[in-house]
Amino acid sequence: MKRVLQRPPVGVARTAVLIAAARATEQHRLHPLFHDPLAAGLVRAAGSASDLNGVRTLAGDHFVLRTRYFDDALLASARPQVVLVAAGLDTRAFRLSWPPGTRLFELDLPELLRFKEDVLRDLAAEPSCERVVVPCDLRDDWATALIRAGFDPNRPAAWLLEGLFMFLPPDVGEQVMYLVSALSAQDSTLALEHVNREFRDLPQMRAVHERFGTMDARWQSDVEDPVAWLDGYGWHATVTHQVDLAARHDRAVPAITDPRKVGDARIWLASATRTA
Ligand SMILES: C[S@@+](CC[C@H](N)C(=O)[O-])C[C@H]1O[C@@H](n2cnc3c(N)ncnc32)[C@H](O)[C@@H]1O
Repeated sequence: MKRVLQRPPVGVARTAVLIAAARATEQHRLHPLFHDPLAAGLVRAAGSASDLNGVRTLAGDHFVLRTRYFDDALLASARPQVVLVAAGLDTRAFRLSWPPGTRLFELDLPELLRFKEDVLRDLAAEPSCERVVVPCDLRDDWATALIRAGFDPNRPAAWLLEGLFMFLPPDVGEQVMYLVSALSAQDSTLALEHVNREFRDLPQMRAVHERFGTMDARWQSDVEDPVAWLDGYGWHATVTHQVDLAARHDRAVPAITDPRKVGDARIWLASATRTA
């Protein structure tokens, strides 16, 4: 009997399909910045992401560049525990070469993770580390769920918060940062993405906000100085500009992050180590 797949993601969880679609498209390039053989299957199972084509046209190059940035940050970090907060349809547990003994936790909404697990099972995907999924809502007590799932706050961890903070109300974003920091032993690392107010207010972003608004995935947060923000939580952070990232990988600067086109509007890509 054919198994019925879980319902494809809706609402804010559907934004994960958009990112997976950008990663799938990158696989058609001659020299992709990363290999993600599962992305296309996940997008296919989600139906179509064509209603989000406008967003992908605008920001697809950025999604690709940021994927490589965070791949490199996580692999360089090489911590025994990795936590992908709001993992979405991220397949790093399967496609990156992790040091032996790595335990990787994926946090996201229960409906999203049910769908993802179903599709990955159908694709016969095998993780390259110990992978633990933690269905939760980041507005609730996710820290307890993470510890119950086997996370050890006394061991260093590498945290990733990619494509998340802008979707959270400011108080929830602060609570997430507070808990991440409280759970981080010395030598932990953190990598994150956020945006500043100027970026949210870009005229180019109006159509994106409208589209996300109809999906119940409104942007609600921004940060002016991510280094100072992270410092306040006990992290020493450095920000990498997309201009440097693009040069490093011999790619054009994504137009949506090109200072000649967007001025001081910024999508922050930051990496940090625990100082407190
Ligand atoms: C733009 S996607 C990014 C996914 C992934 N990090 C990536 O870059 O491919 C945003 C993700 O945040 C998750 N998310 C948003 N709000 C959440 C919440 N309150 N609790 C758990 N996950 C949430 C969504 O389900 C979605 O998977």
